[in-house]
Amino acid sequence: GIAILAIDGPSASGKGSVAQRVAEVLEFAYLDSGALYRLTALAAQRAGVGWNDEHSVAQIAQSLDVRFENERVLLAGQDVSAVIRSESIGVGASQVAAFAAVRQALLARQRAFATKQGLVADGRDMGSVVFPDAQLKIFLTATAEVRAERRYQQLIARGESADLAAITRDLQSRDERDAARTEAPLRQWHDALLLETSGLNLDQVVECVLSSWKT
Ligand code: CDP
Repeated sequence: GIAILAIDGPSASGKGSVAQRVAEVLEFAYLDSGALYRLTALAAQRAGVGWNDEHSVAQIAQSLDVRFENERVLLAGQDVSAVIRSESIGVGASQVAAFAAVRQALLARQRAFATKQGLVADGRDMGSVVFPDAQLKIFLTATAEVRAERRYQQLIARGESADLAAITRDLQSRDERDAARTEAPLRQWHDALLLETSGLNLDQVVECVLSSWKT
């Protein structure tokens, strides 16, 4: 079968950076499933469709015209890499991600990323729903304080204004929404390896993941 490494975990746990680095080292493709939910939220907004309209948002998810090119994400040919990272689109993503029809509409698109070269898939339900047969499943986490600090540093590095208290509150409510929803709630999957990264830097986490993959 195709080699698949599934990395799931909460917001700002470092999944994205870790998964990308691991994919580079292994020369595997990389799936940022969160980007698909973000793109769906953005495309809905641009079409004037409310994030609470399950049926219409699912149709938008189904027909998303998206291309991933290296570091860039193109929606209908337009570079939206920065736009989809905004906090407001993050809120929209977490709203549309709660709908079964939206998750269903994105399923085949996610699975299509698995090609012969291998795949590192990053998200909330990679090991549970999208790639239940993945060879290795990792649940990456860190304390809420550490995750809020990481997100804060990320925003500062991008030259955006950031408020640590607001970020902490936002992370907490997103954690609660992700865990409480009935569709693919966020939790450590039974056969996933728990990786608590609070005391680790990026290189150390990447090392841990790579050594688990090799064994
Ligand atoms: O790390 P952060 O939560 O800021 O962003 P993300 O990983 O890009 O995911 C955006 C939103 O999409 C999250 O709030 C999740 O609710 C949702 N999501 C999901 O439900 N399932 C996935 N496989 C990936 C993301």
